Amino acid sequence: MAAAAAPKPVYVLDCGGQYCHLIASRIRGHECLSVIVDCDTPASELADAGAIIVSGGPQSVFDPESMKVDKAIWDLPVPILGICYGCQMMCHDLGGKVEPAETGEYGPATLSFDGAAAAGGVIPASADGTTVWMSHRDRVMEMPAAFERTAFTAECPYAAVQCLEGGKRLYGLQLHPEVTHTQEGPKMLGAFVDIAGLRGSWKMDNFIEEQIAKIQAKVADGDRNVFVLVSGGVDSTVTYSLLAKALPAEKILGLYVDTGMMRKNETELVQTALATAGLPNLHYVNAEAQFLGALEGVTAPEAKRRIIGQQFLQIQKEQVAKFGLNPEKWLLGQGTIYPDTIESGGSSGSSKKKADVIKTHHNRVPEIDALIAKGLVIEPVMELYKDEVRAVGERLELPPPLVWRHPFPGPGLGVRLLCHDGAAETVEELAARAQAVTDISKALPEGMVVSVPPLKSVGCQGDSRTYRNFAVLSGGYAQDWELLNTTATAIINGSSVVNRCVVSLTSTSAGAAAPAFELTPGGPHTVTKPRLDRLRDADAIVMAELEAAKLMSSIWQCPVAMAPLCVGGSSDEVIILRPVNSTEAMTAEFSRVPWEVCQKIASRIMAEVGGVSDVLYDITNKPPGTIEWE
Ligand code: XMP
Repeated sequence: MAAAAAPKPVYVLDCGGQYCHLIASRIRGHECLSVIVDCDTPASELADAGAIIVSGGPQSVFDPESMKVDKAIWDLPVPILGICYGCQMMCHDLGGKVEPAETGEYGPATLSFDGAAAAGGVIPASADGTTVWMSHRDRVMEMPAAFERTAFTAECPYAAVQCLEGGKRLYGLQLHPEVTHTQEGPKMLGAFVDIAGLRGSWKMDNFIEEQIAKIQAKVADGDRNVFVLVSGGVDSTVTYSLLAKALPAEKILGLYVDTGMMRKNETELVQTALATAGLPNLHYVNAEAQFLGALEGVTAPEAKRRIIGQQFLQIQKEQVAKFGLNPEKWLLGQGTIYPDTIESGGSSGSSKKKADVIKTHHNRVPEIDALIAKGLVIEPVMELYKDEVRAVGERLELPPPLVWRHPFPGPGLGVRLLCHDGAAETVEELAARAQAVTDISKALPEGMVVSVPPLKSVGCQGDSRTYRNFAVLSGGYAQDWELLNTTATAIINGSSVVNRCVVSLTSTSAGAAAPAFELTPGGPHTVTKPRLDRLRDADAIVMAELEAAKLMSSIWQCPVAMAPLCVGGSSDEVIILRPVNSTEAMTAEFSRVPWEVCQKIASRIMAEVGGVSDVLYDITNKPPGTIEWE
C-alpha cells in the first residue's frame, strides 16, 4: 500500500513579531500543518508549501536593516497572506506605497467591510463593524496594481487588500487576525486555510504520532531513558503520557516534587489524579526543607525563580543517584510549552531574534539551557500553547480533571508570596509614588480614591518586562467592572510609576479615605513556612468559594497572592485575588467575578485567616500586567 502523502505545510515566515507562533498555532487549530521558517528563506526552499503567511514584525520597509522576504515568494503559485508588516512588505515589493504615519494605531479598531470586493477573500461579511486588533505605525497608502481593498478602519485606509488577478491569491491584512481580541480573526484565518484547500490535511493526531516517533528516535540514540518532573499540571502530564506511549515503562521515570510551596492538599489531590490516569513508574518526594532552605533570605523575584529552577534540577540529580541510575543514560523530560520559552527570553520565532526576559520560568534557568545545548532535554509539547496541550491531553484520553485543571506554575506559591528586603525607599521613589497618587486622583471617577503602596510587581508592557508599583482603588467606587476596566487602563497607560491596578474589597464605603498602606514592619519578608501557610489558607477559601459558585470552569486561572503591606503598623499582610480569562496565557483579561462572591470571599478571608489587612482584586489585563505578580 502506498504511504499517505505528507500534508502540505503552511509556511509561516517569521519577521520577528511577537505573534508569529500564535499564527502557527491558529493554523493548526484549522487542522492544517504550520511550519515556522526564517523571514528570508529562499522561495526555492518553499516549493512544497500549501500556502505561505508572512508574519508581522517590529520593522519598517524603509529601514535598510529590516528583515526582508525573498521577493520571488510573491510569484509562488500558492495563496499568500501578509499580516501587518507582512502586508506592508507585500504591497511595497509589488509597487504599492507604504507611508510612515504621524501616530500609530494600537489596540482595538472597528473594521468596515468593502462589500462586493471582498468576495473570494479572507474577510467575512460578518466582520463588518466588528472589533479588530491593530498594532502599527507605517501603513499602506496606495495599493499595487491589480489589488483591491476589502476592508478599512477609521485610521487605516487599507486594513485588508487582495489580488486575485491572473490566478493569484495574495491577501494582505494590516490587522492581526491571530489575536484573541480580533473578533472574526478565526474566520479570517479559516477562510485562508480553505482557499488553500488545506483544512483537515493535518490533525492533532498527526502531532501525537510525530512526537512519539521523535521521542523514540531521540531515546534510541545512545539507548537512553527519560526522567520527568511531573507536577500534576496538564503540560507535564501530557508530556509524561506521550513518553509512556512512546517508550516501555522501565525507560521512563516520573517524579512529583512537593516543594513546600504547593496549595493546601495539592499533593494529595495530584497523587490521586495521577493514579487515576494510570501512568506508570511515578514517584513522590517531599523537598520542602530543601526549597525553603535555598530560598532563605532571598527576596528578588528573578533570584527566587532561578533558585527554584536550580533546586528542581538538583533534586532530579539526587534522585537519579538514589535510584542508582546511570546519569549518562537519563535525559531530562520537561512539559515546557511555548509561552515558557518566550517569556524567559527565548527566540520569538525561528531563532533570529531574542525576546526580552519577562520572567525566567523554572524550566528555563541557565543550568537547563546548558543541558538543552548538549541535547539532553526532551520537550515534546514545547511548540504548543496551553489550549493545544489540552487538546492533545483529550486525545490521549487523560482524565478531564487533569486536562482542565487551572494552571499552577512550577515555582508554585513561591512566586505568589511577594517578598521585600526591608530596605527603605529612595527619596526619588517616595516622590514618584506621591506624584502618582496626585496625578491619578485628578482623573478618577466620582467617589473613587487611590493609594500607591511601596511595593512592586512584574508587568509586561510593549513586549518588555516592567517592575513597578501598583494603584489601589477604594472608597465608594461603583461596583461596575466596565468602569473599573476603563479606569485601570487609563491609569496604567498614563503612568510610568504603576503597571497594575487593584480594587480593595474591604474599603468600599463612600467618603472613606484611601488606606495608607505601608510595608509590614519586621522585614525582610522572605519565603517562610508561616507566610506560606497564611497564603495557603486564603487560597483554599478562594478556591472553595469559586467552586461553590460554579465559577472554576469559566475562569481560566485564579492565582492568589500575598504581599507584605499593612495599614497602621500591624504585622498583617494583604491578600490579592487575580482571576483571569485567557486561552494561551500570552494575553489575558481580568475576570469579572460576581460582586456577592467577591464580598463573601473577602469577608471569609478577613474572618478566618489571621493577620490579613485587606483583600485586593486585580483589575489589570495582560498586557500591561502579567498573570502572576512575580
Ligand atoms: P505570567 O505571569 O507570565 O504567566 O503572565 C503566564 C502563565 O505562565 C505561568 N507561569 C509559569 N509556569 N513555570 C511554569 O510552569 C513558571 O516558572 C511560570 N511562571 C508563570 C502562570 O501561572 C500563567 O499561567
